[in-house]
Amino acid sequence: MIEPNKREGSGAMFDGIAARYDLLNRIISLGIDQSWRKKTVAALEIDGEARVLDLATGTADLAIMVARQHPAAQLVGLDPSRNMLAVGTRKIQEAGLDARITLTEGDAQALPFPAHSFDSICMAFGIRNVPDRAQALREMARVTKPGGRIAILELAEPRGGALGAMARFHIHTVVPWVGSLLSGAREYRYLQRSIAAFPPKEEFAALMSECGLTVLFAEALTFGVATLYVATPKKES
Ligand SMILES: C[S@@+](CC[C@H](N)C(=O)[O-])C[C@H]1O[C@@H](n2cnc3c(N)ncnc32)[C@H](O)[C@@H]1O
Repeated sequence: MIEPNKREGSGAMFDGIAARYDLLNRIISLGIDQSWRKKTVAALEIDGEARVLDLATGTADLAIMVARQHPAAQLVGLDPSRNMLAVGTRKIQEAGLDARITLTEGDAQALPFPAHSFDSICMAFGIRNVPDRAQALREMARVTKPGGRIAILELAEPRGGALGAMARFHIHTVVPWVGSLLSGAREYRYLQRSIAAFPPKEEFAALMSECGLTVLFAEALTFGVATLYVATPKKES
């Protein structure tokens, strides 16, 4: 039985794998995760001294990438997992970015920020873990400035065709096997199950639209292994 505070996908579950998370990420995604993050950063269209929120920041890879590419941007990274944030804090210090990136413990469903306080928001591989995704999307719409960009990167069930079949084999067979060798088997079974349970692209884009966001585009990446959703808050009437 899963302990309530170790609900699958929760910060407590990620506490348990934080020390190995970055290494596992690179191995199981064959390094492609960083190219997806680059696309996510580009989609934010950050201009000058922007204030950017990285939700489910984990070990802060995306926040660090934004800070390196946009030297005038200020970042806040939010995540409920103290251990993931501890790894992130170390990486930010090593990168000399502590004056520009602040990490904070928190939940995407109840953001501790006033309305319209960020120019853009990004979230990589995080929305799948949030129990009430609609609430998190409404919170994103609330804290983003009018005209600001929201970029959500999430894994998906690969499409049909030979390359899609290879990608499915990788996710359903290779990933749980490598994951169980290097980390907890349960966490990597969860990864596989939660990807399969995540709504198809059109359905998730429709949910974004119901939650106060205008979806600008939703792009399938690498044979549909991941999807990048880009939106802006709906104009208040
Ligand atoms: C797969 S990791 C992604 C980390 C990072 N964004 C990256 O690109 O590597 C998922 C993260 O979602 C976080 N998470 C789980 N529930 C959350 C919630 N309700 N609100 C915000 N983050 C959450 C976990 O703690 C974990 O760090």
